[in-house]
Amino acid sequence: MPVSLQRPPAAVVCLLLYCLTYGLSSPDPRQREALIKLEASMQLGGQIVLTDAEQRLDALLFKMKQEEMMRADFPPAMHFFKARALIRASPIFRLLQKMPKGGALHVHDFAMTSVEWLVKNATYRPHCYMCLTDSQSVRFIFSSQQPKALPQCSPWTLLENLRAKVVNVTELDNSIMSNLTIFTDQDPETVYPSQDKIWTTFEQAFLALLGLVTYAPVFRDYYYQGLTEFHTDNVMYLELRALLPEIYELDGSTHDTAWTLKTYQHVTRQFITEHPDFFGTRIIFTVHRAVNTSVLTRTVEEAMKLQRDFPDIMAGFDLVGREDSGKPLWYFKDVLSLPVERGVTLPFFFHAGETDLEGTEVDQNMLDALLLNTSRIGHGFALLRHPVAKGLSRKKGVALEVCPISNQVMMLVKDLRNHPAAALMLENHPLVISSDDPAMFGSSGLSYDFYEAFVGFGGIRSTLGSLKELAINSIRYSSLTLKQQQTALALWQRRWDKFVSENAV
Ligand SMILES: *[C@@H]1O[C@H](CO)[C@@H](O)[C@H](O)[C@H]1NC(C)=O
Ligand SMILES: *[C@@H]1O[C@H](CO)[C@@H](O)[C@H](O)[C@H]1NC(C)=O
Ligand SMILES: *[C@@H]1O[C@H](CO)[C@@H](O)[C@H](O)[C@H]1NC(C)=O
Ligand SMILES: *[C@@H]1O[C@H](CO)[C@@H](O)[C@H](O)[C@H]1NC(C)=O
Ligand SMILES: *[C@@H]1O[C@H](CO)[C@@H](O)[C@H](O)[C@H]1NC(C)=O
Ligand SMILES: [Zn+2]
Repeated sequence: MPVSLQRPPAAVVCLLLYCLTYGLSSPDPRQREALIKLEASMQLGGQIVLTDAEQRLDALLFKMKQEEMMRADFPPAMHFFKARALIRASPIFRLLQKMPKGGALHVHDFAMTSVEWLVKNATYRPHCYMCLTDSQSVRFIFSSQQPKALPQCSPWTLLENLRAKVVNVTELDNSIMSNLTIFTDQDPETVYPSQDKIWTTFEQAFLALLGLVTYAPVFRDYYYQGLTEFHTDNVMYLELRALLPEIYELDGSTHDTAWTLKTYQHVTRQFITEHPDFFGTRIIFTVHRAVNTSVLTRTVEEAMKLQRDFPDIMAGFDLVGREDSGKPLWYFKDVLSLPVERGVTLPFFFHAGETDLEGTEVDQNMLDALLLNTSRIGHGFALLRHPVAKGLSRKKGVALEVCPISNQVMMLVKDLRNHPAAALMLENHPLVISSDDPAMFGSSGLSYDFYEAFVGFGGIRSTLGSLKELAINSIRYSSLTLKQQQTALALWQRRWDKFVSENAV
C-alpha cells in the first residue's frame, strides 16, 4: 500500500476561531489572544477563580518570579545540592514555606526527619554503639551489653567512649551525619558520576541509619520529630510509605509489625493532641522489590491482615527500591492479584516509571500498575512516553506523585525546567507534589519541592491558582474517605484564607 501523505481532514484540526478567521492575510490578534487564554485555562489551576486578595498575592508572586527567572544562577536549572542555599534565600521560597500545602502523599518512613536530629539527638543517647564497615560506612546498635560483632564491620565501640577520645567531636559528628544522607557539599556530579553510584550510596545510607531508627525509643521520637518538621513546613497530612521493620529494645527483644503500626497510630494521636491543626497520617505498607515471590506472598498476606485490623491508619501497599534493578511489577502479577481473588480490599500505591530505561519491562510498570488498579502512581516520571498509560491515568483519576528533587538527585533529569511534569501540569493531569526522601537529599518537608515545581517546571505561567490546586489535589487524591476529605479541606481552607490575607499586599 502506498504511503499516504494526506493530512488529517481540516475539520479535525479546525478550531472554531481558526476557521472563522481563515483567509485573512495576517494572523488576527484577537484570535491569538483567545488561543492563549484557552491554553491558560487548560493548565493546573486554570479553572480556579481567584478572590481579590488572591489576585493581589498572585501578582506579587508573578513579580517575584520574573525577578528570579532573570538570575544567571536560576536555582531550578542547577543541581539541588548547589541550589539549596539560593532557594533558602528566595522570597518565593519563604512564601511557599508559610503556605498551607495540604498533604505530603509520597514520603518514606526513614527519610522524613533531618539527619542532624538523628546525630545530635539519637546518637547521644546512652548505650549507642557504632562500627565501621570494610567499605567505610557506619552501623549502629543500642544494647545494654557489648553486642556481638557484625561480619565485615570493626568491633562495636560505645560512641560515648569514642567521643571522649577524639580530638574534635564536631568533626566526628559531621562524618557520621554524612554517612546518613547522600547530600554533599562537594560537586555532586563528581561524587556521583552515575545512577549506579548514587543508588549504592543511597542504600548504604539507609543501612547506616537502620540500627538507630529501629531502636524503639528512637523510633517513636524520630517519627514525632518528622511530624514536627512537616508541620512546621505547613503540611497538615501525611501518607507515609513504611517498611514496618522489626523494632528492638535495649535487651534485644523485638516487636511485631502490628506493634509498629500501633506505635505510628499512638504517636500520631499524641501529635494531634499537641497540634490540633494537624490532620493525621496514614501508612502505606512497603516491601523492597528485591524480595522473591514467597516473601512477597507472605508480605501481601500480612498487608491484607493489617488492612483489615487497622483500617483507620492503613492506606494500602507498595513495593520500594530501585525499579531498574528490581523485578518489574508484571513478574509479581499473580501475587498482587491475591487480594482481589480473595475479595479482600488492599489498595495499591505503586512506584512506577521512576526510570529512563525506555522500552524495557521496567518501563511498562506504569501500565501494569494501572492494570492492577493502583490508587496512585509513585513518580510516573516516564509517563509522557506512554500515551495509553497516560490516558488511562487521566481517565481513572489515578494521580501521579511527582517528586522533583528526588528525580533530579537520582539523575533522571538535570534541569528541572525539563521535568516531564511541566507538560503534565499544563494540561492539568491529575498530580500531586511530594518530597520522597527529604532527609536523604538534604531538604525537608515539602516547600523545596513546591519551589522547584512552581518556579522550575511551572515556569512563568503557573499561578497562585496552580499552587491552590496542588494543595487541594493532595487532599482529593489522598486515601482519606470522602467525608474525611471534606473535613480536611475545610481545615485547609481556613488556613489558606489566613495565609492569603496575611500575605496579599
Ligand atoms: C532527644 O529528643 C527527645 C524528644 O524531643 C528529648 O526528650 C531528649 O532529651 C533529646 N535527647 C538528647 C540527647 O538530645
Ligand atoms: C572542629 O571541627 C569543626 C568542623 O571541621 C571546625 O569548625 C572547628 O573549628 C573544630 N574545632 C576545633 C576546636 O578544632
Ligand atoms: C562515615 O563515618 C566514618 C566514621 O566517622 C568516616 O570515616 C567516613 O568517612 C564516613 N563516610 C562518609 C561517606 O561520610
Ligand atoms: C526467598 O527469600 C528468602 C529470604 O531471603 C529465603 O529464605 C528463601 O529461601 C527464598 N525462597 C526461594 C524460593 O528462593
Ligand atoms: C481491577 O479492577 C477491575 C475492574 O473493577 C477488576 O476486574 C480486576 O479484577 C481488578 N484487578 C486487580 C488486580 O485488582
Ligand atoms: Zn519513593
